[in-house]
Amino acid sequence: MKVTVVGAGAVGASCAEYIAIKNFASEVVIVDIKENFAEGKAMDLMQTSSLLGFDTNIVGSTNDYTKTEGSDVAVITSGIPRKPGMTREELIGINAGIVKTVSENLVKHSPDIIIIVVSNPMDTMTYLAHKVTGLPKNRIIGMGGALDSARFKYRLAEALACPQSDVSGMVIGGHSDTGMIPLTGLATRNSVRISEFLSAEKLEEVAKATMVGGATLTGMLGTSAWYAPGAAVSAMVHAIATDSKKMFPCSAFLDGEYGLSDITIGVPCIIGKNGIEKIVEIELTEAEQAKLKESAAAVSKTNALLDA
Ligand code: 2OP
Repeated sequence: MKVTVVGAGAVGASCAEYIAIKNFASEVVIVDIKENFAEGKAMDLMQTSSLLGFDTNIVGSTNDYTKTEGSDVAVITSGIPRKPGMTREELIGINAGIVKTVSENLVKHSPDIIIIVVSNPMDTMTYLAHKVTGLPKNRIIGMGGALDSARFKYRLAEALACPQSDVSGMVIGGHSDTGMIPLTGLATRNSVRISEFLSAEKLEEVAKATMVGGATLTGMLGTSAWYAPGAAVSAMVHAIATDSKKMFPCSAFLDGEYGLSDITIGVPCIIGKNGIEKIVEIELTEAEQAKLKESAAAVSKTNALLDA
């Protein structure tokens, strides 16, 4: 499998590293506009090959998309990350132009590609990639929910003082500080409802900490996080490469599912060799349905800025 990672910054490089370590891709091409930056990251990563035991060939390219020819999957991480105090939505002015150009370049050289969008504001950037590429809706996926769910599990395990492998939880809705919806009612500790262990107040605290998980790290790091975003998107690439039919919450283009249309927003998806194999419609409480509707309205409002 050939994978292109656009953006050699921290998220892109982490994604490339995790893909290489999982050793399922024959080639990873890292693309960046900064002269020799992607080439440098690729060479540094390649010098870990004998130490980490992978055979994936990683190459870098300074904005030369001919190197991406015939890619099966591309991950778009390019654009500016947020600074402390910023919302993801504030990045749209700069990132929309970047994601548009990148998407067009990717499809030009790999017409059968599956694109996974990470750049923020992610739901809107995913929507933009749909519009500019005209790819079938199963081949454009936004990565947000996989990351938010990982943060949800981190917070649940922290509250329970248990291993993260003991908890299961999913976050749907928009990938934004106010729009994401940690599904506390469905979360479990080894198949037991989490409400058996945590009070409603504690669960609310866990949900709130999950929602601002990105902003919390941006405040601590001075920039957006990169390890978990890189790991989340590499897990989705792996599911495509291995046709695993694994279920992730992803930003998917909806055509009536959950009562929503002409929007990309986080919903449970089965991921396999065709990208989004199936959108899974789960039963939501009235409160969760209302939150999803509100979240979708906020995403649509940001989408409208694309035409402004
Ligand atoms: C985050 O939440 C970068 O949006 C990503 O960390």
